[in-house]
Amino acid sequence: MSNETIRPIVWEGDHLELLDQRILPDRYEYLTLTDADAVAEAIRDMVVRGAPAIGITAAFGVVLAARHRFAEQGDGWKAAIQADIERLAQSRPTAVNLFWALERMGRLIETLEGDPVALLEVEAIAILEEDIAANRRMGELGAELLAGSNGVLTHCNAGALATGGYGTALGVIRSAFAAGKVERVYADETRPWLQGARLTAWEMVQEKIPVSLLADGAAAHLMSQGKVQWVVVGSDRIAANGDVANKIGTYQVAIAARHHGVKFMVAAPTSTIDMQVKSGKEIPIETRAAEEVLGVFGNRIAAQGAEAWNPVFDVTPAELVDAIVTEKGVVLNPTAEKIAALMAS
Ligand code: MRU
Repeated sequence: MSNETIRPIVWEGDHLELLDQRILPDRYEYLTLTDADAVAEAIRDMVVRGAPAIGITAAFGVVLAARHRFAEQGDGWKAAIQADIERLAQSRPTAVNLFWALERMGRLIETLEGDPVALLEVEAIAILEEDIAANRRMGELGAELLAGSNGVLTHCNAGALATGGYGTALGVIRSAFAAGKVERVYADETRPWLQGARLTAWEMVQEKIPVSLLADGAAAHLMSQGKVQWVVVGSDRIAANGDVANKIGTYQVAIAARHHGVKFMVAAPTSTIDMQVKSGKEIPIETRAAEEVLGVFGNRIAAQGAEAWNPVFDVTPAELVDAIVTEKGVVLNPTAEKIAALMAS
């Protein structure tokens, strides 16, 4: 299987199939979802994760909700569906792609009369396909910057699994590897959900891209050895000033990168840029259950009696970011002015 064919979200016309990312790489299984509540639960429970993938999934959740509401309530569907959209919006707080996709579906809903399902389905499919196209464009643009890198470091999973397909950070890495610009990927294992060890490593192995896993705490040492020239990561939300929210641990990677003269790239579609938040301070950071840190997949490893703090994202200040790569273009050394110009283009 290649990044061309890894599809975390499959729309089957009357139901949604989600690749269950909680059990990868041990098992490759899809879950069948038929209503919006199941979709919200799947997002909350990490069946599907990664900012663009969450947004696309929620868009299909709206289609499922519309089918149920129209069948039950006829013309009353428009009022009734607002509760479904609200439950989808409550599933995870940080990735702005979720709210972006729900708002886009909401704008279409306002214009609809009669049976809404077919047109909402077309919109959700467009969101999915536009995401894949954006990733391919980012792959080309980002790969140009990576010329001459023998190693790159990535954190979490910003691959095909985190998007409609192809990936953001891993899309850049994949394009760069295909062009002979990268020799090896170093992947932080990414505690506590191990998206790096389970998902990024799996994607790279499928692609036959050499991948070395490292404990999250090994990243600065890796840089001190001169093994990587670039860090390439995705994002859950980019503020109007270029501050970047991403998986917890990204911030310390960015600090280490600047210290060692390693360049730091964020690859994200413009649907990840939130012009409503001025800086990273305003980005809501999700905190998840302490058990995720106190154990590994349900097996307690921490001393009994210990508590845990589990913020799952952090904010990297814009001044530590060398490049933001979007489908609309590349912003070097991001500032509020440059981001505004990109979004207006
Ligand atoms: O908690 P997750 O797995 O949803 O976190 C995902 C990340 O932090 C990704 O890096 C980000 O969403 C970008 S995905 C293209």
